[in-house]
Amino acid sequence: AKAWTLSRSEREQELLVLKNQVAACTRCQELAETRTQTVFGVGNPEAKILFLGEAPGADEDRLGEPFVGKAGQLLDRIIKACSLKREELYICNILRCRPPGNRNPSDQEAANCREYLDGQIAIVDPDYIVCWGSVAARNLLNTTSSIGRMRGRFFTHGRAKVLCTYHPSYLLRNESAKKDVWEDMKFLMRDMGIELGKK
Ligand code: URA
Ligand code: URA
Repeated sequence: AKAWTLSRSEREQELLVLKNQVAACTRCQELAETRTQTVFGVGNPEAKILFLGEAPGADEDRLGEPFVGKAGQLLDRIIKACSLKREELYICNILRCRPPGNRNPSDQEAANCREYLDGQIAIVDPDYIVCWGSVAARNLLNTTSSIGRMRGRFFTHGRAKVLCTYHPSYLLRNESAKKDVWEDMKFLMRDMGIELGKK
């Protein structure tokens, strides 16, 4: 069924079916053997904006929710500065399992998990997708470009406008990139008809 024909409760139902499939997934043997649990995604099944990260870290693996560790706390501050609420968004990752030691997802792992990501995007059917960091951007858009070259404009994925910006973990190590992310958020919100202040 096309997402635009789905009611909120139908979307919730379809996401739940997918979430249960993910919980039983063993496509990536190493990840399935080392995870505490899968981290499917959270938020509004009718969100206008979908946030896409890289993969669960230790905190997410423990709690089963994306972006709940240090990077997630910074993401929450960014969300607040945009006068948004976490519950308005849909948040998920390229991978649904934690890579041991937080290594980058392999191409095979990203490919294995892609069906689930595509399913979540199709069900939520967002107007905007924000790719946080190069793993999200490169995998979603199938490019090898850097965030520095991709940020500040929209790409498209299906009918969604895609904005790529620096990962919150990167911002924790590179304070100076925060102003770029703020510019990117203002660019996004302006396109949605919302003017943000100076900060
Ligand atoms: N970093 C990510 O990319 N995703 C998470 O869920 C947590 C940290
Ligand atoms: N490199 C990354 O991997 N992510 C960023 O957000 C920025 C640079």
